[in-house]
Amino acid sequence: MPVERAQLGSAPIPRRYLMCEPRHFEVRYAINPWMNPGTPVDPELARGQWQTLVETYRAHGHTVETVAPVAGLPDMVFAANAALVLDGKVFGSSFHAPERQPESAAYAAWFKEAGYDVHPAESVCEGEGDLVPAGRYVLAGTGFRTQRTAHREVQEFFGRPVISLDLVDPRFYHLDTALFFLGPEPGEDGGTGEGNIAYYPAAFSPGSREALRRLYPDAVIATEEDALAFGLNSVSDGRHVFVAPQALDLIDRLVHRGYVPVPVDLSEFRKAGGGIKCCTQEIRS
Ligand code: ARG
Repeated sequence: MPVERAQLGSAPIPRRYLMCEPRHFEVRYAINPWMNPGTPVDPELARGQWQTLVETYRAHGHTVETVAPVAGLPDMVFAANAALVLDGKVFGSSFHAPERQPESAAYAAWFKEAGYDVHPAESVCEGEGDLVPAGRYVLAGTGFRTQRTAHREVQEFFGRPVISLDLVDPRFYHLDTALFFLGPEPGEDGGTGEGNIAYYPAAFSPGSREALRRLYPDAVIATEEDALAFGLNSVSDGRHVFVAPQALDLIDRLVHRGYVPVPVDLSEFRKAGGGIKCCTQEIRS
């Protein structure tokens, strides 16, 4: 078993996260198999779980900023979908579902206020839901939401090689439900730019699975149970992995590789097909 960077140790670089309070969160429509309209959401529980995630990030040295929630946009809490921010540049989203399309303007206003120009996507593109910066590459999902033509736009915009991956299981409709990047980022902690990932192979087409196997021969492989528990909807700072507590095997495997799992329960958000990563947009300067 390879020794990973996480074991070697200097303090993780502080990250900057953008999040949106779940004030208007509910399950009003169904745009993925997890959603059952009318499923009651416990607003207190959702708010408490979200607040715990905010406080946990801060307790680990990360910065959390928030965008004002907009009434009538129940999925706006899933900040990851609003953009991909890399090298201080913002690639805005163009949502697949009409119900979510107004979120683009709400987030664009926040970015503008924060001093960023937002480059609008021409094709359907759901930000970090389907775009995962992974060292020297951007891994990009398609099949349910983000269109393959958006992958090309992303490569042109950032000048980073984009690896297109086909998602085939509707339960894992966004790339960030089936895969996350463990780190390190290029230049961090002696990182070479390769880094490593955790993923659930069966969420991908055979060719994409093979491509991932070649790129990441030492990846952490998750079980179906871990994936269904939204264990792959995790956020890593290179050492700590903020992860669903129900992803038991994955947590063991991460410990074995020298990572420090930090369980945070976002069970209420699973009713909408979301978890930790979905609620977290990373602003990379
Ligand atoms: N209900 C939302 C949707 O289906 C959930 C989005 C979850 N976000 C994510 N990054 N996977 O669009």
